[in-house]
Amino acid sequence: MKILAIESSCDDTAAAVVEDGRNVLSNVVASQVPEHILYGGVVPEIASRRHVESIVGVVREAMHQSGCAYGDLDAVAVTYAPGLIGALLVGVNFAKGLSFATGLPLVPVHHLRSHIAANYLTHADLEPPFLALVVSGGHSHIVQVDSYTAFRIIGRTRDDAAGECMDKAARAIGLPYPGGLNLDKASADGDPKAYKFPKPSVSGSPYDFSFSGLKTAAVNLLHNAQQKGETVPVADFGASYIAAVVRSLTENTEKAALDCGAQKIVLAGGVSANSVLRRECGKLCKKHGWSLYMPELRYCGDNAAMVGAQGYYEFCAGKRADAALNARATMGIDVG
Ligand code: KG4
Ligand code: ZN
Repeated sequence: MKILAIESSCDDTAAAVVEDGRNVLSNVVASQVPEHILYGGVVPEIASRRHVESIVGVVREAMHQSGCAYGDLDAVAVTYAPGLIGALLVGVNFAKGLSFATGLPLVPVHHLRSHIAANYLTHADLEPPFLALVVSGGHSHIVQVDSYTAFRIIGRTRDDAAGECMDKAARAIGLPYPGGLNLDKASADGDPKAYKFPKPSVSGSPYDFSFSGLKTAAVNLLHNAQQKGETVPVADFGASYIAAVVRSLTENTEKAALDCGAQKIVLAGGVSANSVLRRECGKLCKKHGWSLYMPELRYCGDNAAMVGAQGYYEFCAGKRADAALNARATMGIDVG
């Protein structure tokens, strides 16, 4: 079964053709990084306009690379929530038009579910149930994945997302957008013990995260150094900061996995590309004898192949949308 998938939830315009949820026939991503770099972050209005300009060419290219004609497809899947509303609307309306014109069924896909499904593209043996750590620019969740379409949130951030927290620190020390990736690269040779950052915890909720205190601590550290005329080495600052974020993520995941009796741990979302998080999760899983699944780097960030993967399982579960489908800026992974 072949699905054409479309993704436009943030600043990547993406389309892919995926067979049976696992086999990627094409995967095209038009990045908007050069547009947003000027502003140090994603400007929603600009993102929407670029999606409008790019989407026809991106979908055409995905169809061309897949070698499929529309008559070979079985469905159109599209990200409809959560994300930037103006950006989501471009993909949703395009998919609705395509579904209307071709008669193909339309399958709405939750963005975070598709980040988890990115793992199905690489790990042919991966099947639910498993515990997922979902860390992106807008979300940080520990999720119990009971089946391909049944999700329970075990832990969540009380304030900022891990990716946002990486981006803010990167920006504060003068690194360009995309901050998380650049902070990771700039910190490779840094000393993770050079600076002390607070250990965030949420009292009474052992699996929940709180990153706003860490972010404030980073900004204060940089201000204090500036006032004293001291320079802060980017690599040491970044390595110490990333270590603090990753410690929080891995400690809570460990607690949740032990309490849930999980044997399989899955990483997902843009931050799952982080080299320290990948390494530390590897150590954690080795210590407990758990299996660790991580997306390939090309499937960590936003892409449409992962939408095609999750779209297949949503389709098999009978999920369909019609011309009344709307985009939603927020929606729980357990709902969507
Ligand atoms: O999943 P994603 O591509 O978009 C959202 O759905 O939000 O995640 C983007 C986030 C950004 O905050 C970005 O800085 C972060 O993922 N990110 C990283 C790395 N690569 C991307 N954070 C840390 N280390 C990385 N290597
Ligand atoms: Zn994403």
